Order: sequence, then structure tokens, then C-alpha cells
Amino acid sequence: MAAAIDRYAVIGNPIAHSRSPAIHARFAEQVGHRLEYGRILGPLDGFAAAVDAFRAEGGRGLNVTVPFKLEAFAYARRRTPRAQAAGAVNTLAFDGQDVLGDNTDGAGLARDIAGRLGVAMADASVLLLGAGGAARGVVLPLLEAGVGRVAVVNRTAARAHELAAAFADPRVTGHGYEAFDAAARFDLVVNATSAGLGGEPPPVPAPWFATAALAYEMVYGPRPTAFMLAAQAAGCARVSDGLGMLVEQAAESFRLWRGVLPDTAPVYAALRAELDAAA
Ligand code: ATR
Repeated sequence: MAAAIDRYAVIGNPIAHSRSPAIHARFAEQVGHRLEYGRILGPLDGFAAAVDAFRAEGGRGLNVTVPFKLEAFAYARRRTPRAQAAGAVNTLAFDGQDVLGDNTDGAGLARDIAGRLGVAMADASVLLLGAGGAARGVVLPLLEAGVGRVAVVNRTAARAHELAAAFADPRVTGHGYEAFDAAARFDLVVNATSAGLGGEPPPVPAPWFATAALAYEMVYGPRPTAFMLAAQAAGCARVSDGLGMLVEQAAESFRLWRGVLPDTAPVYAALRAELDAAA
């Protein structure tokens, strides 16, 4: 009898447009693993029940996306330090009664910046825009990548102060836009606000972009976001969307489940070509 195929999935709501199944299928093919990776539309009031059902059917792991990352954090029996620091879980691994919660988003960001984009992170001064879950999730991985400073700047200054206080690390400080030093200079500007694909860009003074080596947008789409356009207009040396972060966080989840880190370059190239074709 053939061994049962290991099953994985991504759970979110909505979920139809998730690219994770295509990414993990390509990873599995590349490393020669037989596995199945599907999508689950999680009921808004039934996340834990949906995960229970998936486990009961023998599921080995889940990627978790909006709006369930906090519930996945609560669901996990134990968590990695980076998930603990993020306060959110995007990857669950099941082994019998054991449920491990991890968060690979920040590691994905750091690897995309240092690896694919080749931008040095050692001692870098980072401007992190936003103070919600997306911002919180990347602070520890940025510190672990060796950055010298993370200035969290948020529209609601109090949330930035709270986020910085939660890390209790002198390298992490919190600020409002107006109150923050307009003469400050950064190597890297990361947009972790939900302004994202539509609407107003965060109110970043042009000089913060002008001297940065990279402005990084954590979301992606066929067209540049308002943040990316503002960075370009201000003369930022390089601007990137978050497609590479998506692929790298997936690779890191794959490694947690399968013990091997896939080569992300061909998968990134294929997704980029698809996005360009959609533009
Ligand atoms: P997420 O989990 O995606 O981080 P969130 O917790 O709702 O979502 O946080 C959204 C973040 O984007 C917040 O930091 C928000 O600023 P406020 O705390 O002041 O609300 C920020 N944000 C959203 N739209 C913005 C905009 N147009 N300009 C600046 N910041 C914006």
C-alpha cells in the first residue's frame, strides 16, 4: 500500500486568491517531496473547529493568513520565540497532540532584503512605518538580522510607543510622524501600514526616502502602491514590493515542515512574470 500523502493547506478568509498552493507545489516538485497543499476558507467564527477538522483528517501543517493569525497564536500549544515576539502565528505544524506555532513573515522580509535585493542590514538604520500586527511581526527578525536601529513611526503615536515599549530594547523606538525628527536619515524604509494597495500613502517626509538605499512595501500587486510611488518620486535609490517576502516566508514554512529550504529564485521569477502579465 502506498504511504498516505502529507497534507498541508493555507487557511484564511477570503482565500480564493492565495498564491500559497502554487508556491508550495513548486517547492515540493523542486525538492522531490510528495505532498498535497490546498486552501481552506475558514469561517469567521469557526477557526479552531476548521483546524481541528483538518488535523482529524491527518493534516500536517497550515499557513494562516488574514484574519486568523491571532487565533492561530492562541491555538498553538507551543510557539517559537519569533512567533512569541510577533504575537501572531502564520505557520502551524501538527504532530499528534503537539501544535507548534511559528511566524515566518519577518524572516521572509529579512531574507528578501539581504538575499534577493542584496541590501546590507548590518547596523542599518530602519524606519518601520505602522504599529499594527504586520509591523510587530518583523521587529525581532530585523534585530536578529543585525540592524542597528528600528524607528517605529505611526499615525497614532501611542501605538508606536506601545510597540517599542513591548520590545524593551534601546534599538527600538516609537514615534508619531509630526513629532519625529525630519532630519533623521535611514538606510531602509519599510511600509507595514495597511495603506497598502489603495488609498493615501503614509505621510513620509521626502527626505526620509531620499537618502535610503531601499524603500520596501510589504504587500504586492500588479501595480506599484502609493507608498512605492512616493518613494520613487522622492528619489529613493531602490523600491521593492513584497512579492519576495511572500515567497521567502513560504520557503521558511516549508523548511519548518519538511526540513529542507527550497530555492526561491525560480518561484519568485515565475510569480513576478505572472504579476507583470496581469499589469
Ligand atoms: P495590520 O495587522 O495589517 O498591521 P492593523 O493592526 O489594522 O493591521 O494596523 C494597520 C496599521 O496601518 C496601523 O499602524 C495604522 O495606523 P494607526 O495605528 O494610526 O491606525 C496604519 N495605517 C493605515 N492606513 C494608514 C495611512 N493611510 N497612513 C498612515 N498609516 C496608516
